Amino acid sequence: MDSIKSLERAVAVCTDCSLCETRIHSVPGEGPEKPDILFIGEGPGFHEDQIGRPFVGPSGKLLDDLLGLIGLARSDVYIANVVKCRPPNNRDPLPEEIKACRKYLDQQIRLLDPKVIVTLGRFSLIRFLPKETISKVHGQPRLWGHRYIFPMYHPAAALHQGNLRSVLEDDMRKLPELLQKIQTESTEVGTEVPEDVTPDPEQLKML
Ligand code: URA
Ligand code: SF4
Repeated sequence: MDSIKSLERAVAVCTDCSLCETRIHSVPGEGPEKPDILFIGEGPGFHEDQIGRPFVGPSGKLLDDLLGLIGLARSDVYIANVVKCRPPNNRDPLPEEIKACRKYLDQQIRLLDPKVIVTLGRFSLIRFLPKETISKVHGQPRLWGHRYIFPMYHPAAALHQGNLRSVLEDDMRKLPELLQKIQTESTEVGTEVPEDVTPDPEQLKML
């Protein structure tokens, strides 16, 4: 699994948990190989299982609309899930399924190396910030290693609870500002520590 393509091939035939017995297609995820943003949902639903692609049902339509608000297309971002195969009847994924599938998400994060990980829903959030609740932290970027976690509600939640749609929209509109801030931060680091300058030991003693 040293490339996204080989990871996708491994997921397609994976039998490491019992979800492989009921899936039609596993859903590795899709998007560019070096995205700024990685969206992580919970797991494939009915429509995703049918065709092997993430967020292609009603939640996917809402996600597309939300991306459109900030001038992004689906092809600009990578979209993945915590578990890559559909839990029967869309039940919650079980701890042993999440554990068995974890290696794929870990590898996706490493290979894709996104600047921002947008977690969609509770299962995705607790993968990174296990003690947090969405109602408390949604829309608030959190530094995680050298990238940011940006928690959002799951689009499906807004399909059931209409008032969450505007919350999702407001949170999505904060993303461009975060990306801008990250660009500025990396420029500042670059100017403060020029790579080819060796500090003068005498000067260092005075600091
Ligand atoms: N919901 C998810 O969490 N993931 C999908 O891919 C589709 C719906
Ligand atoms: Fe493998 Fe993950 Fe599918 Fe389980 S959910 S069979 S671990 S790809």
